[in-house]
Amino acid sequence: MALTGPWNAELASQLVESNFVQWKYGARFLPTETVPLHPVVEEASRLVPESGVERHPFFALAGRSRPALEFWVTQELFVTGVFAQLLGLTSSALVNVHQRARFNLVLQGEHGGVKDGIARASHPWLLHKLAHSMGIAPDSVEPAQPTYDFLRDLAFSMSSPIGALGALGVGNEQMLVPEYGAVKSAFESAAPEVEHGDFLNANIYEDTEHSALIAHIASELIAHDPSLADHYLAAARSSVTARMRYYDRLADLYT
Ligand SMILES: [Fe+2]
Repeated sequence: MALTGPWNAELASQLVESNFVQWKYGARFLPTETVPLHPVVEEASRLVPESGVERHPFFALAGRSRPALEFWVTQELFVTGVFAQLLGLTSSALVNVHQRARFNLVLQGEHGGVKDGIARASHPWLLHKLAHSMGIAPDSVEPAQPTYDFLRDLAFSMSSPIGALGALGVGNEQMLVPEYGAVKSAFESAAPEVEHGDFLNANIYEDTEHSALIAHIASELIAHDPSLADHYLAAARSSVTARMRYYDRLADLYT
């Protein structure tokens, strides 16, 4: 089992090179100007309530079917782990130290603190504990095609740093708040004896703040370069669509 993922040596050298080719002292060291949320960022954030994800038929189905709910948990193990890694990748693309530090609050929120070598509050670990408490054996966890396709679509939306902010901030952090609320209701009816609160509440309570942090950073980047607005909105839209398509396909598997 490899404990490290793929690495792009070219990207590492480009990151170094850009310090010399595009050197601007202020861009790197000085605080960025505080700006109100950009209208395009606000438009993108409306995509989540408009999607009605919390009313997706899959959640009602999972509320009646413990196997469907367990399947959701097994697939979310892939999504949660990859998502935390993609946040780290995006952090490295933010040049300004103050913006990067604010973004890293999101990264830190997903990973939590470490005690005795264990990231006890990290979202992937909390999900692992939830899976364990449901009796899901690690050997039985396999990625399904819809999950693989969803994560590939997500990566495709991250075609630029601003696209990454739209895809991760809107299509994931913001989307998770209503989505996990619906998952919570499914747990209450299909698996009431399972302690689901640690993982689901950690996301529900933190992700509103996480998506707001990302929305503000995106607004600053767009205020600095208005040509980024379209990329942000397109990535937010395609990631919301990808997540809805994912649930359509999960529902198809159980109907
Ligand atoms: Fe989050």
